[in-house]
Amino acid sequence: MPVSLFAYIVCDATKSTGRVAFFAPRREKPNACYLQRTCLSVVCRRFSAPLRAAHLLENMPGAFCAKRGAVIFDDLRAIQLRYGFLPKAELEGLSKRTQTPLYQIHSVASFYPHFHLVPPPKAEIRVCADMSCHLNGACELRADLERRFGNSHPDDVQIRDVSCLGRCDHAPAISINDHIFTDVTAAHAEQIARSAIRGDTIHEPHPEQARIACKADPYGENEKYGVVRKLVQSKAWDDVLAQLRAAELKGMGGAGFPTSMKWDLVRKQPDPVKYVVCNADESEPGTIKDRFIMTNLPHLLIEGMIIAGLVTGARRGILYIRHEYHLQEEILGEEIRRCYRSGLLGKKILGGSLDFDLEIFASPGGYICGEESALIEAIEGHRAEPRNKPPFPGQIGLWQKPTVINNVETFINVPQILARGVEWFATQGVGGSRGLKFVGVSGQVARPGIFEVPMGVPIRDAIFNHAGGVRGGRPLKAFAPSGPSSGYLPASMVDVRLDFKALAEAGSMLGSGAIVVCDDTTCMLDMALNAVRFYRNESCGKCVPCRAGSQKMADMLVRWTQGGVPESQYRADLSLLDELSQAMSLTSICGLGQIAPAPIQSVLKHFRAEVDVHVLQGQCPSGICFTAAARAGEAQRVGIRP
Ligand SMILES: Cc1cc2nc3c(=O)[nH]c(=O)nc-3n(C[C@H](O)[C@H](O)[C@H](O)COP(=O)(O)O)c2cc1C
Ligand code: SF4
Ligand code: FES
Repeated sequence: MPVSLFAYIVCDATKSTGRVAFFAPRREKPNACYLQRTCLSVVCRRFSAPLRAAHLLENMPGAFCAKRGAVIFDDLRAIQLRYGFLPKAELEGLSKRTQTPLYQIHSVASFYPHFHLVPPPKAEIRVCADMSCHLNGACELRADLERRFGNSHPDDVQIRDVSCLGRCDHAPAISINDHIFTDVTAAHAEQIARSAIRGDTIHEPHPEQARIACKADPYGENEKYGVVRKLVQSKAWDDVLAQLRAAELKGMGGAGFPTSMKWDLVRKQPDPVKYVVCNADESEPGTIKDRFIMTNLPHLLIEGMIIAGLVTGARRGILYIRHEYHLQEEILGEEIRRCYRSGLLGKKILGGSLDFDLEIFASPGGYICGEESALIEAIEGHRAEPRNKPPFPGQIGLWQKPTVINNVETFINVPQILARGVEWFATQGVGGSRGLKFVGVSGQVARPGIFEVPMGVPIRDAIFNHAGGVRGGRPLKAFAPSGPSSGYLPASMVDVRLDFKALAEAGSMLGSGAIVVCDDTTCMLDMALNAVRFYRNESCGKCVPCRAGSQKMADMLVRWTQGGVPESQYRADLSLLDELSQAMSLTSICGLGQIAPAPIQSVLKHFRAEVDVHVLQGQCPSGICFTAAARAGEAQRVGIRP
C-alpha cells in the first residue's frame, strides 16, 4: 500500500471546517507500510487564484486537500481579518476546534511578523530600516515621524522598524497598517497615518504600468507556452535535462546550484508523489528582480514550473510569494486562471496524459522563509525554522516528498534555453558568461530600478549606464554586489564582472543580483552595522551560533560606532570577531548565520582605516556615528543596549 501523508478529503463544499478520520503512516516508523487511524482537522485552503478553487471543485466537487497544520495560516488570517489581531479567546477556540494544542498555535502565530497577538494601534507605521532605505533617509524619516506624532497616544499611532519591503528601488519605503507606500516624505506619511487614525480606509497605490518587453522572452507578441506544447507531444524529458546541463544553468536564488542536477535528483526518486516549488520570497535587502520578472514575464515563470513538473514527475506546484507582493500575486493568479482555461494546467494538460496543478501560497512573512527548508516548513504550517541538511529537499522535501525548489529567475531561464537553444543562451553573456541576468540597482544612484543585462558585464555598466550613476554625480565609494550577504566592495573594484566565478574570486558573490550603491558620504561601519542588524533581527533563533552570535556582533559594532573603546579592548574585539565569524560560518544550520559575518568582515578588509578612526579616535569621517540621533535611534532597536 503506498504510504502518503497527503489526503484528498471529500466533504460538503459549503462546510469550511470539520474533522475527518483517515489513515496515516505510524509516526514511529515513517517508512513502514502499516497505517494508523488519525484524526485531522479539515479547513478549506485559501486559494489565491479563486478560479483554481473553482477548477478543483469542477473536477472533484467538495474536495479539498488537507494536511496536518497546513491550514493554520488560513484560520489565523481569517481571525486577524475579523479582529485586526489574534485574540486569546479565538486562539483557544481554534485550538479546541482543530484539537491542536494551544502552544502549537501560539508558537506559529508568534513566529511570523504578519500576525499580531495584541491589538494594533489605529495607525501602525513601520519604516524600512534596511540598506537601500537606510541610504535614502529612512533614519531621518523615522525621526521626523516620531517628532510629528510625539504627543499621540500609543493606541492611535506607533512607529516601528520593518525589514526590507521589497521596494528598494523606491526608497524610503514604509508600511502603514500593512499597506506599502514608497518614495515617501514625512509629510505624506503623516497624512496617510492621520487618515487611518480617523478611521478612513487607506489604499496601497498600484501605479498602472504597461508590461515591459524583455529580451528574455522568447515569445514576444506570439503565442506563449510553445515549449510546453512541444514537450507534451515529444515527452523528451531526458533531452530537457541534457540541454539544461549543456547550458550550465545555475540557480539564481543565491547559491548557484546546477539546475539540471537538482531536477535529475528529483526525477530519479522512486516516490510517485513529488512537488515543484517556486521560491518567490525575495526578502533580502536590495533584491527586487523577482518582483520585476513576475510583473513582466509571469507566463515564463509558470511555463518553467510546468516543465519542471513534467520532467521530474511532480503533479503539483506551489508558488511561494512574499505577502507584500499583492500586485504580483494578482498578475500570477490571473495567468494561472488563463492556463487552467486553456488546458495548460490541470488534468491531462494539453490533451496529453499528465496532470499539473499550480497554486499560490502567500508567505506569512520573514526573510528566513526564503531559505528553502524553512519555506517548506512554512507551507506545512509550522514555524519557518530551517531543517538540518542532508537530506536535501530533492530527496525529502515538502510533506516528506521529493521537491524541486527553484528561484523565479531560474525557472524563467528554462523555457528560454529550450525555445532558443543552448547556443543562443551561451552567447547572451559576455566574457565567457552565459545567459541574461536581471539585476536590481538601488541605494544612492540616479535611476534605481531593475535592469536586464548580459551575464558577465562589469558591475560598472549596471551602475553607471543603466542606473544613471551615483546620484548627484558624487563619487562612488562602495557597492554591495548582492545585498548584505555579498559584503561591500570598494569603488576600485567596480569593474568586477557580474558572474558567479568572477565575484567569488573578488571575495563576494553574485547572489540574487541586488547591487546596492554607496556614495562618498556613506559611513561603511554604519553600513556594516545596518547589515548585521538585519541578520540579527531576521535570525529564526533555532541555532545558538546564529542567535547569540548575531546579537554579539551587533553589540560589538554598536560599541565601535560610539567610540571610547580602549585600544587593548579593540584588539580583543577584533580577535573575538574573527572567532565568532568562523564559528558562525562553520556551525550555523543555514545560510543566514553562515553569511551574517560577511558585511563587517568585508568592511574590515576594504575600509579598515575608517573603522580604526571610529574606535581609536572617536570620529566618524562621514559624520554619521557618534551623534545623539544615532544613539537615540539605536536605543529603540530591538535587543540593542547602547
Ligand atoms: C536566509 C536565506 C534566505 C533565502 N531567500 C531566498 C529567496 O528569497 N529566494 C530564493 O530564490 N532563494 C533564497 N534563498 C536560497 C534558497 O535556500 C535556495 O537555495 C534557492 O531557492 C534555490 O533555488 P535556485 O537553485 O534556483 O537558486 C535563501 C537562502 C537563505 C539561507
Ligand atoms: S543559522 Fe540563524 S536563521 Fe539559520 S537556522 Fe540557525 S538561527 Fe535560524
Ligand atoms: S524596501 Fe527598504 S531596503 Fe528594501
